[in-house]
Amino acid sequence: MLDRTDAKTRGLSDLPEVEADALLALIALSNADPRPEKIDVGVGVFRDGSGHTPILQVIKKAERRLVETQATKSYLGSAGDKRFVELLRPILLGEHAYDERIAGLQTPGGCGALRLGFELIAAINPQARVFVGTPTWPNHPPIIRSVGLDITEYPYYERGETNVRFDDMLSALSSGEPGDVALLHGCCHNPTGADLSHEQWAKVTRVIVDRGLIPFVDIAYQGFGRGLNEDAHGLRGILSACDEVLVAQSCDKNFSVYRDRVGSLFVKTASPEGTKRAMAHVHQIAREMWSMPPDHGAAAVHIVLEDEQLRADWHVELDAMRARINAVRQRIAAASPRLAYIGGQFGMFSMLPLSKEQVLRLRENYAIYMADSGRFNVVGMSDDQVDRFVAAVAECLDG
Ligand code: LMR
Repeated sequence: MLDRTDAKTRGLSDLPEVEADALLALIALSNADPRPEKIDVGVGVFRDGSGHTPILQVIKKAERRLVETQATKSYLGSAGDKRFVELLRPILLGEHAYDERIAGLQTPGGCGALRLGFELIAAINPQARVFVGTPTWPNHPPIIRSVGLDITEYPYYERGETNVRFDDMLSALSSGEPGDVALLHGCCHNPTGADLSHEQWAKVTRVIVDRGLIPFVDIAYQGFGRGLNEDAHGLRGILSACDEVLVAQSCDKNFSVYRDRVGSLFVKTASPEGTKRAMAHVHQIAREMWSMPPDHGAAAVHIVLEDEQLRADWHVELDAMRARINAVRQRIAAASPRLAYIGGQFGMFSMLPLSKEQVLRLRENYAIYMADSGRFNVVGMSDDQVDRFVAAVAECLDG
């Protein structure tokens, strides 16, 4: 960090070096690799069996309709598209969809929702500690630190295992104080693929209630694990038990609209009046950060969800993405007993028990790109790349 007095005497170009975001740097590295056989399992983007990230047909149809029917591009306000948020409620909140203590607004992706939620926490209780699992999505800690909140880690997962380090997680969360925040992945844990069972969700929820913690559920992959409802099971249990909850939601993956940045933040407090007051702050903070979220992607999702046929077709396309994720998982798991654990995990990611050197060797010798942590995107590879991927990983695990 720059000292305040130093900063006054320096020009903009005198800023210290910034360590490049590892995932974004990996995209650039892979793009620059001319080897035709390269396999990019770095960033979390769904690819189909031929290795492409298609635009969903329902989104294409909705976009055509949008072009034809949109009458104005005038401002929508800091809430974004209110109908988009209403349409999401039953999908995300299930039986809590009509709870007036829960309100939401559109955000630029799940990332915007996370930042906004943590800004709200920092405004209410800057002393709050945020309990964050290790490992977690690499962008969680910087977002939390950027609002000035402290992080307390809870052990979550050991590489090479199927399941989470549940007892360690529970005992770490048990040290939380009222007002501290517990950051939880709703489903399809990024980077590990290791999700909580129903029983484990119930226990975590109990500890959160007993300790007076505020749960912040990040759910960016709903529908990629077991199905839309099943993937929201933990979140809905939290909403049943807790008076104060934050939810960062993303449509970027399940509608395949990554670059359009489509997400939402939901806030629950103990009363409709309390939620109204909290949301007034949320809107003010959003106004200060991005004023209003970008419209296009949310408008397309809105059209899909409003139209019975398009909505049904979306379910079919989402089911197909999930089926591919699970099929590739099973193929990898069947290839070697050491990779069998991958078959019992969910979503796009799993972690391989590889050292940084082994990850680098995969990159240099085999043109396989994955995060230094050993996280790989199971659907980053095309169907005809799976065997080569598994063989290269097995060689590196042995070497
Ligand atoms: C990922 O984890 O690969 C995605 O969420 C993309 C990102 O922004 O990091």
